[in-house]
Amino acid sequence: MCGIVGYVGGRPALDVVVDGLARLEYRGYDSAGVAILAEGALTTAKRAGKLVNLREALAEEPPPAGTLGMGHTRWATHGAPNDRNAHPHVDCSGTVAVIHNGIIENFAALRSELEEAGHKLGSDTDTEAVAHLLEDELKAGGNLADAMRRVCRRLEGAFTLVAMHTGDPDLVVGARRNSPLVVGVGDGENFLASDVAAFIEHTRDAIELGQDQVVELRAGGVAVTDFEGRPAEVKEYHVDWDVSAAEKGGYDYFMLKEIAEQPRAVADTLLGRIGTDGRLTLDEMRISDQELREVDKIIIVACGTSYHAGLIAKYAIEHWAGLPCEVELASEFRYRDAILSPTTLVIAISQSGETMDALMAVRHAREQKAKLLGICNVNGSTLPRECDGVLYTHAGPEIAVASTKAFLTQLVAVYLIALYLAQVRGTKWGDEVFAMVQLLDGMPEKVDKVLETMEPVRELARSLAGERCVLFLGRHVGFPVALEGALKLKELAYMHAEGFAAGELKHGPIALIEEGLPVVVVVPPRARAVLHDKIVSNIQEIRARGARTIVIAEEGDASVEPYADTLISVPAVPTLLQPLVTTVPLQVFACELATAKGHDVDQPRNLAKSVTVE
Ligand code: G6P
Repeated sequence: MCGIVGYVGGRPALDVVVDGLARLEYRGYDSAGVAILAEGALTTAKRAGKLVNLREALAEEPPPAGTLGMGHTRWATHGAPNDRNAHPHVDCSGTVAVIHNGIIENFAALRSELEEAGHKLGSDTDTEAVAHLLEDELKAGGNLADAMRRVCRRLEGAFTLVAMHTGDPDLVVGARRNSPLVVGVGDGENFLASDVAAFIEHTRDAIELGQDQVVELRAGGVAVTDFEGRPAEVKEYHVDWDVSAAEKGGYDYFMLKEIAEQPRAVADTLLGRIGTDGRLTLDEMRISDQELREVDKIIIVACGTSYHAGLIAKYAIEHWAGLPCEVELASEFRYRDAILSPTTLVIAISQSGETMDALMAVRHAREQKAKLLGICNVNGSTLPRECDGVLYTHAGPEIAVASTKAFLTQLVAVYLIALYLAQVRGTKWGDEVFAMVQLLDGMPEKVDKVLETMEPVRELARSLAGERCVLFLGRHVGFPVALEGALKLKELAYMHAEGFAAGELKHGPIALIEEGLPVVVVVPPRARAVLHDKIVSNIQEIRARGARTIVIAEEGDASVEPYADTLISVPAVPTLLQPLVTTVPLQVFACELATAKGHDVDQPRNLAKSVTVE
């Protein structure tokens, strides 16, 4: 969703803010804007389209130099993505400027009230109402932070707000409810941002802001209160990656870099999981072994690619821990009557930890008294704070909108959780768990091997750039991999792509097969003969109907060769772990095909990386 940056300190605020926006553009790129406070006046500039348009406008007409500033990159919710609706928004007098991420649900009522009182609103956004509300509250007394607290108490919905006011020339104010905002703590300067990436080149010291808090940011310090003005306790943390992790490092796209980083990301996520006693330890689990022994059902909630990690988790949890496991799209979860109790463990998977659908599912589960475990890649984000326990993936910052290294590390996380459950519940012996963790430890090398052999996949992808549709088939854990392969192609290449359970094909989708249609088939290891042989039959069925078969199978699997128009070999690994190697060619395939079509794979149309509205 939208990206937000705020700055106060000794440097030219415009440079800090625009550089910060460049690192947050993955959150939204419909339009961008800045406001600078200098010599007692506010100057705003905003442009529809990507940040480059704003940069050009700023180069033509630079605002006066100031050391207080804020910026916004937008993913439109209310109002078309044009110059007029771009943030910042100002009040009638142009003395208050506001940027916003989220949706203010009671904005229609607020807007009518403001218009009746004589305010002139110039945009279609919900955000602008806040600028005018602040204008009224400032007249009623106090500084910008007092006004912000009073305004926040009137707002419904989700919001991160950052504001500046000419009457408070040393102050930037932020507020949050259900939407991300972190503080970067510098030396004589401080930062606000949706994500630490925006200020990581200046400081790695950050403060988590809690729910319903207002922060006053000055060059010399930071003060946090709740919406009533009561001082709030804050949690400081140190970011364990540096600016190089948030840069392209010689790659044309972040996505290419992130695909290449997967062996490291998988290894980092596995680091330090085995204790000195040889047992699996999960540091921030915070749910006791006794409570885990009492769990009688698991429900996994997630969205997008994270949902596919959840689908794979089900196989591992049921197989290793012997627990019933349901997987649900987070956006659907609270609308059905799921049966939850204190012995239900709900696992929420979210790379960003800010996806609103996932957070709402967690809150719903909390109300039903279930235990909550988060799998998350972003320290300081909301999800870990709302769960009883957490398992952090260590993928490092993922900037490309389409998830790659985060997905592989989520798989590692779910395998670890399934094995941990097996350990504490005694469904696997200690040595069995240890042996499986050792196999996991060998996976970075296997993923590396896959990456080394991707040139034919890239060639294939380029040759298929003119196709309209690609189908993906799999069985067992290969089915979610097929779904993920199709999602990647939709997201990046804007092509019709569908993933199917191979056995389901004959019940309808086989009618889609026509001469030359590319169909990617994920073949399970030969060791699972019952699965393997069925899918080999499925490949023959679709080939007999004219499909062009692209087969991903373990190396040495000669049985599929006669039926594969293209064969992509991956290292042989145990069945449950196979998604770690079979997903990678599908990521490379989608990335290359989309690039061949001339698309920006880091910022696909209409998407945002972190979706903070429902
Ligand atoms: C967005 C992104 C997807 C991502 C999904 C879930 O839709 O475009 O790539 O998989 O959100 O994100 P999360 O941060 O919750 O894993």
